Amino acid sequence: MNKSLEYIFPNPPEGLDPKALRVDYIPEHVAVIMDGNGRWAKKRALNRLRGHKAGIEAVRETIRCASDLGVKYLTLYSFSTENWKRPEEEVVGLMDLFAKTMLAEVDALHAEGVRVRTIGDLSILPEETRAAFDEAWEKTCNNEGMTLAVAINYGSRQEILHVVDSMMRLAAERAAETGEVPAATEEMFEQGLYTAGMPDPELLIRTSGEMRISNFLLWQIAYSELVVTDVLWPDFDRYHFLSALLEYQARDRRFGAV
Ligand code: IPE
Ligand code: IPE
Ligand code: MG
Repeated sequence: MNKSLEYIFPNPPEGLDPKALRVDYIPEHVAVIMDGNGRWAKKRALNRLRGHKAGIEAVRETIRCASDLGVKYLTLYSFSTENWKRPEEEVVGLMDLFAKTMLAEVDALHAEGVRVRTIGDLSILPEETRAAFDEAWEKTCNNEGMTLAVAINYGSRQEILHVVDSMMRLAAERAAETGEVPAATEEMFEQGLYTAGMPDPELLIRTSGEMRISNFLLWQIAYSELVVTDVLWPDFDRYHFLSALLEYQARDRRFGAV
């Protein structure tokens, strides 16, 4: 842990005790499906994009809190391969928001020692958006603090198909050389994922109450603990993050054993 619990959680709401958190049992990798921006805006009769903008503060707070607690990897689902189905105005607005936010925040993240990387297919993003993430990576890749993985144009089925495709090619090459088709291993598979080198998330949080995975990290969450909160993403703060961690710490993780 990088800061004291009193520092990280100065004003806990009634009934939530930061000291109940076991600091020796913080998950290494937390993944978040940040959902509910549209409903947050709708409740206020605002344009959906205003909801996405309001979500930035929750992103900032979650990154800071996770980094202060010593989480090693934080993966944020920001745009799925299915989100292109949304109205053009929203998609364009989101891409612009990603680029502007990344450019505005990268220095503060760098100062915190955060490494900013992406998972997903960035090749079809608008040039400005891709460039903002590329620059963030170049600037922060040697940092040794938390790794922030922004999932953007990310889809787990597409990721898995990409791995299968490269394994099939490799198998065909080996078979041509040796006459034998190599057996697939979990290690081989994992090396081909966007998340290669990252541990699987111990904890997956989804906001806005939806009980689904929406094509996120299907392989990687095989044994993740799932915490769904009704809070809409723009309202999510460090105390909701603390609650999710406490819920995670109370779970009995059996991994199929007894
Ligand atoms: C999540 O909020 C952000 C993205 C998917 C980009 P939504 O935009 O899905 O919000 P709701 O689900 O419509 O409330
Ligand atoms: C999942 O949320 C994708 C992101 C949070 C980026 P969606 O709002 O797109 O998922 P569905 O449509 O409710 O499954
Ligand atoms: Mg949604």
